[in-house]
Formats: sequence, C-alpha cells, structure tokens
Amino acid sequence: MAEDLLSLFPPGSTLDATGTLVVGGCRADDLAAELGTPVLVVSEDALRARAREYVGELTSRWGRARVVFASKAFPCTAVQRVMVEEGLGLDVAGGGELLTALKAGVDPALVVLHGNAKSDEEIALAAEHRIGLVVVDNADDVDRIEATMPAGVRQDVLVRVIPGVTADTHSSVLTGHEGSKFGLAPRDAAALVRRIEHSPRMRMRGLHVHVGSQILDVEPLAAAVAPVAALGEFPVYDLGGGLGARYTWADEPPTVAAYAEALVAAARAHLPAEAELVVEPGRSMVATAATTLYRVTTVKRGVTTFVAVDGGMSDNLEVALFQQRFEAGIVGRFDAADSEPATVVGRHCESGDVLVDGVPLSAPRVGDLLAVPATGAYCFTMANNYNGTRRLPVVFVRDGEARLVVRRETWDDLLARDVD
Ligand code: LLP
Repeated sequence: MAEDLLSLFPPGSTLDATGTLVVGGCRADDLAAELGTPVLVVSEDALRARAREYVGELTSRWGRARVVFASKAFPCTAVQRVMVEEGLGLDVAGGGELLTALKAGVDPALVVLHGNAKSDEEIALAAEHRIGLVVVDNADDVDRIEATMPAGVRQDVLVRVIPGVTADTHSSVLTGHEGSKFGLAPRDAAALVRRIEHSPRMRMRGLHVHVGSQILDVEPLAAAVAPVAALGEFPVYDLGGGLGARYTWADEPPTVAAYAEALVAAARAHLPAEAELVVEPGRSMVATAATTLYRVTTVKRGVTTFVAVDGGMSDNLEVALFQQRFEAGIVGRFDAADSEPATVVGRHCESGDVLVDGVPLSAPRVGDLLAVPATGAYCFTMANNYNGTRRLPVVFVRDGEARLVVRRETWDDLLARDVD
C-alpha cells in the first residue's frame, strides 16, 4: 500500500526511517513548516528527466523532430526555464505565458503562439519579439498578422486543422472532433493556406493538429496524422500534445517511447520524409513531477468521513471541472494498518469542492499533513482566489535543497487590485 502510493509521487520520492515522505531529498514536513500550506512541491530532477525522455524518444526515431513544452500545463518562469535548459521550445497560449517564457530565456525562434481568439495585443507581442511560429486558428488571425507585421517582415505560420478524430477522455478536453472551436475543418484550412501563401506578411510553414488531453491510448493521437497529410506537403507538422498522465493506480498511460513510436510510424506512412515534426506535450511532461501538501483543518465523522484541508478547488480545479481522480496519503502514515475510507474536501463554499472522493487514510486528525500526488499539470495554471484565497507558492526541490520559485500571494496582493 505505502509502496503503491509512493509510486504516484515524483520519481525518486522515498519514505525515510520515520515513514515521512521525502521528495527531491526534502522532507515534506520540513517543507510545510518552512513554507506553510498548501504548497506545490516540484521535483526538478523529475521535470528534467521527462524532458530528456521526450527529446530522446522522439529524435531517435525522427531526426528532424523537436519538442515544445505546452506552457499552459505549468506556466511559470522556473518550469519554462527548465524546459529551455533541456533544449525544448515553448508553446504559449497568451501574452502572460509569452512574457514568462521570454523571462525564462527562451530563444524567441523556438516559441509557438496558440489561441483560438488571439488579441491584437498578443499578435503585436509576437511580432515585437519575432517569435518562431504563430499557429493560425482562423481567418481573423491572418487579418491581424497582416495588419501588424512590419513591412518586409514575414511571420512564419502553421494552420490549425481539425482532424475529425475523437478520443476517450473528458469531453471538455477534446479538441480534434468536428465541431471543435479550435482550428478549421480541412476544406476551410485549405482555403486559408492558399490565402497565406499569397500574403506578403506571412510564410506558410505547415499544419498543426491537437486531438485533446489526458488521452491514455496512442491510437487517436496517431490517427490525426493522415487527415493533415491529406492537405498537402509542407516543411513542418506540429502534432500537438495530449498524452495522458498517471494520477491513480488504475491509470496505465502509454510510455513516451510508445507514443513516439506510434506518431513516427504514422509520420513515416503519411508525411514527407524531410518534414520537421513538432510535438507539444504539457500534462504528461509535468503532472507526476509535483505534489501538493495540505494541512488537515477539520475531520468530520458521520455517514462519510470528511477530511477538510486548507486548500481545494482554489489550487486544484481538475476534480471539479473534469472529475479527475487523484489519490492522497497522510504524511508519516502512508502504510498504517488502521486506515479508514475518507473523502478529502477543500475549504471552499461549494459541495463540488472535493479533492479525493473515497480514499483510505490512516486515522486522519487535525494538524496532519496530507499529500496529493500528480498535481503538476494544470493545477497551478487554474489556481484562483475563490473565497479570498491567496494562491499557493511553488517550491522546487532537488538533492535536499528547496528553492522557492513562486511565492504565496499576500493579502496586500489581493487588496492591490481592489482600487475602489
Ligand atoms: N497543444 C495545444 C494546442 C493545446 O491546446 C494543449 C492543451 C496542448 C498542446 C497540451 O496538451 P497536453 O499534453 O497537456 O494534454 N484545462 C485543462 C487542460 C486543457 C488542455 C488544453 N490544451 C485541464 O485543467 O486539465
């Protein structure tokens, strides 16, 4: 049981002689004492290892391939900087993600800008910083780029195509099906490609496709290749992200090797041999590199045992929005025999504010530290101020050293925007 739970924490996590969780060489209780709770703890080695795995598995199979981290999965400078140091590019889907990417030291040529409703300001930022690729989602993007690029400068673009592929994941994170708000149906994409090919402000580089997120089967991801190939030969094909992560015992996501194998097999079958392949992993790059530590605030025993903690849907919206299943353990007592089924809930004014619905916890009591593994993807991203919560800090751990990379919000931060 303890071993099982431990396997969901960042690779290299251990239990010390007292049974206390150790991540990146740092004891969870020490981190909580120093930084307070809730706190998002990120294993830097786990991030780096996964980035290298992606680059290795892809480039060993397809020489002209590159990996671009989908910043939206964990948009902060420190995470983006790790990716940059590991040689990855950065996909950004908004002005703020672009600004932290630049702060992280990314080569602008390795930035890919996304968005189904890019603003004039975002296109202007892309033009100002001469970013590598803008992924055109619609004809209005083309109008904006034409109106914004300075004379004599051409923006390299990809056109996002709806492949008409579906996958077994939550409907809110499916994007490749007909009727998706992202990208264009093949016929409309083909017309826009022709327009771009005649534009003095753009260089038509290739096509982009993204099927969805938390996909635990490589087939739908590979199935998106043929529909884009049918639109013609281009120098670049960006095959998006989407590989699922392991959140619970039951999840068996494909390995990065199996993912690369499937994509490259489809590329060999359908794409020009000299084309450049780009992938944009987000979730599978960062999910299991992090864990959130909470303090138990109340324990209410009744029909259900509710264990309430000092965070919740303000730091993890994955459960409320997508019914994502997580696991949890009491730090120091992962393997106690006297465990009881409990429901871990947050502190927010909503019954849907549940972190884990039904999980065995060892005699939970007020003051315990509770760890939820696999919170590296999209949790920091969608953190919010519900009920006046100050958004949580992020700490990197490595070789027994802890380094704060995003501080906790302060009451002053909250009051500063309130200008009445
Ligand atoms: N590329 C594009 C164009 C995307 O839209 C996404 C994710 C990715 C790459 C990365 O996909 P991943 O490898 O992470 O599956 N808010 C949701 C997640 C939405 C994913 C959006 N697009 C959540 O909290 O789970």
